[in-house]
Amino acid sequence: MSKGPSHQDLESPCMYVFKKFKRLRLFEPSLGILGFFLVTVCVICCFFYLDYSAVAKGFGFSTESQRFLGLNFGGFDEDQRVEFLGEKGDGCDVFQGDWVWDETYPLYQSRDCRFMDDGFRCSENGRPDLFYSKWRWQPKYCNLPRFDAKMMLEKLRGKRLVFVGDSIGRNHWESLLCMLSSAVPNEDAIYEVNGSPITKHKGFLVFKFKDYNCTVEYYRAPFLVLQSRPPAGAPKKIRLTLKLDQMDWSSSKWRDADVLVFNTGHWWNYEKTIRGGCYFQEGPEVKMEMKVDSAYQKSIETVVDWINRELNTSKTQVFFRTYAPVHFRGGDWRTGGSCHSETLPELGSSLVPVHTGAQYNIFIDVLSSRSKTSNTSKPMTLDILNITYMTSKRKDGHSSLYYLGPKSGPAPLHRQDCSHWCLPGVPDAWNELLYALFLKREAIQTWNTSTFRAQA
Ligand SMILES: *[C@@H]1O[C@H](CO)[C@@H](O)[C@H](O)[C@H]1NC(C)=O
Ligand SMILES: *[C@@H]1O[C@H](CO)[C@@H](O)[C@H](O)[C@H]1NC(C)=O
Ligand SMILES: *[C@@H]1O[C@H](CO)[C@@H](O)[C@H](O)[C@H]1NC(C)=O
Ligand SMILES: *[C@@H]1O[C@H](CO)[C@@H](O)[C@H](O)[C@H]1NC(C)=O
Ligand SMILES: *[C@@H]1O[C@H](CO)[C@@H](O)[C@H](O)[C@H]1NC(C)=O
Repeated sequence: MSKGPSHQDLESPCMYVFKKFKRLRLFEPSLGILGFFLVTVCVICCFFYLDYSAVAKGFGFSTESQRFLGLNFGGFDEDQRVEFLGEKGDGCDVFQGDWVWDETYPLYQSRDCRFMDDGFRCSENGRPDLFYSKWRWQPKYCNLPRFDAKMMLEKLRGKRLVFVGDSIGRNHWESLLCMLSSAVPNEDAIYEVNGSPITKHKGFLVFKFKDYNCTVEYYRAPFLVLQSRPPAGAPKKIRLTLKLDQMDWSSSKWRDADVLVFNTGHWWNYEKTIRGGCYFQEGPEVKMEMKVDSAYQKSIETVVDWINRELNTSKTQVFFRTYAPVHFRGGDWRTGGSCHSETLPELGSSLVPVHTGAQYNIFIDVLSSRSKTSNTSKPMTLDILNITYMTSKRKDGHSSLYYLGPKSGPAPLHRQDCSHWCLPGVPDAWNELLYALFLKREAIQTWNTSTFRAQA
């Protein structure tokens, strides 16, 4: 729908999320908030200490600060955590946890990565603080494996990993390209198969890692379902329709992928659909009265049913990434909403409201109703990359004023990007979870095979 530079591709935020957010943010004179304040002040002190004592870097102190932040887990003893990839880690909810300061992060530097839009290169574009790149996601009850690009590439050998979704999905995909390419020193060994540059907006981009014969691909499909011309004889005001019962045209290109990562949500609002003359269609009929939320629900049903019906889920591992919250304050992206003065996440799980919103809830409802009424013999095989909660804490991670490229300087204060994310940054953590779940599936299959062998 919208073309042009990354900023114009901004997903418009949903006002209800914002309103809820604003209300919940009002300070109440409770002990909890007081505690949060103290922790924040201490964390800020830690930053300054770390900044001015390069000698102490990486030693004793950073573990101290982690232990200190660990208090946020409500007294859970971190020594009791199991390894997620070990057998004891089965069933550990990796999406429950908190952000901890980690001096060994980020995993890469943006200037070393060729596979990134200017819009995500915050520090190269003038963002003064680097704090946002130093947080690691720590699940409450287990430890994640540290990301190992070589290992991931080895596991992807001869395979296709495909992202399908909107520009936040692109943000996520570029993060993975940077994480993986850090293990490939030879520039010529990674290339776009059609020679397309990453900065140009195209329907899809396919990057090949030559030495591993694998591809990491992105298909732009912000609605996941098919957008097309209106049926003949439809009223003039209908410019486009979204066919809620059909998958995006590109689905034939990625249905055989080995790993699929879906996302959608940021385009499902009035502004990006009906206001622009894009109505919803089911079968031959355009539903003039249909509301965006019910259209969204129908599209999710279409996607889930398609996955269950069309995919060979023994071959294809399917992930669905949940909605990534936006953090505009005092407006939205067109009306001067801002996030540029945020430099710290919200820490401490009990104090943070879950800004989920309708997109997340509708998605979860569809999944649970589908898994209840499923009358096929095969169980639902879809991994939910349930990042909404963890991401809601990262108001500090957005591109804000720093999406314009190094020569153009910071954007005007009233044109901020509080939807997309700086890289390195928050999407790297989504990929660490993707990595963990990807390896976990293999580990489980290996155990089952060896158990089977042991019994035989
Ligand atoms: C997603 O994660 C949050 C935070 O841990 C949790 O409260 C929620 O139940 C999870 N939802 C699903 C569907 O796993
Ligand atoms: C590369 O991977 C593809 C599958 O993506 C496979 O068909 C092809 O045979 C592989 N080529 C080599 C040289 O291994
Ligand atoms: C599904 O994929 C598995 C693993 O690649 C393969 O062994 C199996 O034959 C496939 N099943 C069908 C119905 O294509
Ligand atoms: C259950 O199976 C019947 C017959 O195969 C089919 O018509 C129906 O749509 C299925 N229901 C669901 C929820 O898949
Ligand atoms: C592995 O085995 C367990 C129990 O034996 C079973 O519940 C699970 O579904 C199996 N997983 C796979 C991937 O086969």
